[in-house]
Amino acid sequence: MKTYQLAIYPGDGIGIEVMDQALRLLDAVQAANGFATERLHLDWGVQRWERTGELAPPDMLEILRDKDAILLGAVGWPAKVPDHLTLRPLVTIRQKFEQYACIRPTRLLPGVRSVLADKGPEHIDFVVIRENSEGEYVDSGSRFQVGEPGEIALQTAIHTRRGIERILRFGFETARKRRRQLTMVTKSNAMKYGYVLWDECLEKIALENPDVQADKMHADAAAMNMVRWPERFDVVVASNLFGDLLTDLGGIIGGGLGLAPSTNTNPERTYPSMFEPVHGSAPDIAGQGIANPIAMFLSTAMMLDWLGESAAAAQINRAIEKALADGCRTPDLGGDLSTSAMTDAVLDRLQ
Ligand SMILES: NC(=O)c1ccc[n+]([C@@H]2O[C@H](COP(=O)([O-])OP(=O)(O)OC[C@H]3O[C@@H](n4cnc5c(N)ncnc54)[C@H](O)[C@@H]3O)[C@@H](O)[C@H]2O)c1
Repeated sequence: MKTYQLAIYPGDGIGIEVMDQALRLLDAVQAANGFATERLHLDWGVQRWERTGELAPPDMLEILRDKDAILLGAVGWPAKVPDHLTLRPLVTIRQKFEQYACIRPTRLLPGVRSVLADKGPEHIDFVVIRENSEGEYVDSGSRFQVGEPGEIALQTAIHTRRGIERILRFGFETARKRRRQLTMVTKSNAMKYGYVLWDECLEKIALENPDVQADKMHADAAAMNMVRWPERFDVVVASNLFGDLLTDLGGIIGGGLGLAPSTNTNPERTYPSMFEPVHGSAPDIAGQGIANPIAMFLSTAMMLDWLGESAAAAQINRAIEKALADGCRTPDLGGDLSTSAMTDAVLDRLQ
């Protein structure tokens, strides 16, 4: 029987709660589809930090390197550990494992209401591909005269031709499997070094892909257009920062963060890819058993698709759509189901 080696990284807060439910779902679909998983459970995160003083072990990359995939809940507990520390293992994994393509689909599922008036599933179906390995989130900068009135902080974004070209190529490939329309989002009118390089790379890569209609948009206009014309977007390619912002917007347009999945993909498969919901650890609702597990389930389905278990992924997606169409809802969507009751509803609808 085909057996996949998985690293299970629940993290903190509701990350732990939604991961528990995703593993129930994984148990069910692997039994039904004739494959197995061997799971290495990682206790990395704030609880480990409280016990040992470290969020993750120093050899964390070695521990992960030979896995087929990493399934992540969410990390962060700002009241206990500053976010720039808690998120560092995550950012390190993304960068060191060249998980440069962060794929974040926004699809309004039938039966779910969007915050956008008069917009239904036929209007809201796009995917943002966020550059995940460089840009604004590289660890490059410094601070001078710390604590002084004249303190200076420098934060340097790094954009490389190699990094931009490979994410654009990935975007064009994705567009070719969809509606063949790609929009690149930058801010090259105001930031004339990094984003002008993005513009030049788009001109070049678009010529190599004449079957895909490509255009570009500044980030401020893209935010406005995603609200008024979501149907205008098919595949959006954006830098690390702009992709991060636009995918929270995409999450809410698509029904809420509780429904928004995400991948950190290494397209060459040289390293394991990592799959996680867009949302964070939600300390405001953690421990109450009311987190929506659907984003975690959709992320698990994306992992299975990536591993080649497309039938199992499709089975999860169908069961989720059916549960939502039948009115099953956690409180974030206006319902009263607990996290585990929502999971039961999805499990009941697996065919
Ligand atoms: N990749 C990650 O692990 C990741 C991503 C984003 C934020 N974070 C971290 O998470 C912590 C909290 O950040 P935040 O509050 O800005 O963002 P968040 O995504 O955790 O929560 C934002 C809001 O959405 C709600 N929400 C999120 N997911 C939900 C779900 N599944 N079901 C129901 N409601 C849900 C929360 O209750 C909260 O009101 C911080 O430490 C932050 O750095 C981690």
